[in-house]
Amino acid sequence: MSTPQLLIDTDPGVDDALAILMAHAHADVTGLTIAAGNVGLAHTVRNARTLVDLVGVATPVYPGCPTPLVRLPEEDAVHVHGADGLGDVGYPEPKAVAQDEHAVHAILRLTREHPGLTLVALGPLTNLALAVRLDPSLPQRVKRLVIMGGAVTGLGNTGKIPAEFNIGFDPEAAHVVFEAFPSFDLVDWEVVLRHAFDDEEFNRWIAAGDQRATFFDQVFGTARAFNAKRGRHGVIAADALAMAVAIDPGIVTRMEERHVAVEMDGRLTRGATVVDWTDRHGKPANARIVMAVDQARFGAMVRRALGA
Ligand code: BDR
Ligand code: CA
Repeated sequence: MSTPQLLIDTDPGVDDALAILMAHAHADVTGLTIAAGNVGLAHTVRNARTLVDLVGVATPVYPGCPTPLVRLPEEDAVHVHGADGLGDVGYPEPKAVAQDEHAVHAILRLTREHPGLTLVALGPLTNLALAVRLDPSLPQRVKRLVIMGGAVTGLGNTGKIPAEFNIGFDPEAAHVVFEAFPSFDLVDWEVVLRHAFDDEEFNRWIAAGDQRATFFDQVFGTARAFNAKRGRHGVIAADALAMAVAIDPGIVTRMEERHVAVEMDGRLTRGATVVDWTDRHGKPANARIVMAVDQARFGAMVRRALGA
């Protein structure tokens, strides 16, 4: 496998943090463009800078849009990720500085300078939507777009029952991206739940790892407690699964190609991803929905990113 070149749009976020560690362990990272989502933009930018310090590389961090495109969000994910988005551990001010260039401009520039990048979207799709509206030729310049988002049979994780967080935070942006990109890989919340890690096995990786494992153990406390309270089993690593698929598409063992649309209106369903499972509308499939991956290979990628 040749080393993939990634441009990551992200709202760190605990599971974003693990994904960013994975990216730096397995790929060339051209930049981190930052969205608001799990917590406000000031926190997500600062968290990205903290991660850049931790991995000890000069990956540039580009602050993006502070709000969704149209409507203010109905919820954030402070209850999962902590008020600062990284488990409220209280890290000092990071040394890495954010770039002056806006994330949307950075996405357009970097994809021109590095044709064939893989775009990985780990948060709400606000920055990507604006980028593709500014330059509709963006999809032709990227090798792949991998999106963590959606709930393909309606098992969401937000106050709107069928909506997953990243899509539900900015449904209009998701609609723009889903319409503009002729083909993208979709790692939805349901496949994430099917690929949780065994708690004890994960604890062993943490114990065997280096400073990255210590960091992740610290920031993961709030989210782990939240998941346990919700009755969710194992270590759920949404953005890490999307990152694994971005780094090595060969880990996908089952995939369905379908047309997926985003509900923008529904009182009970705003933010839902509507999959045309039986091709009733006859629209070309835009999404390659990841249904299953090789769990052992996924685990090996996470383990290496923790230094274990
Ligand atoms: C997604 O929402 C966020 O809370 C996580 O970081 C992940 O990107 C899961 O629904
Ligand atoms: Ca995220």
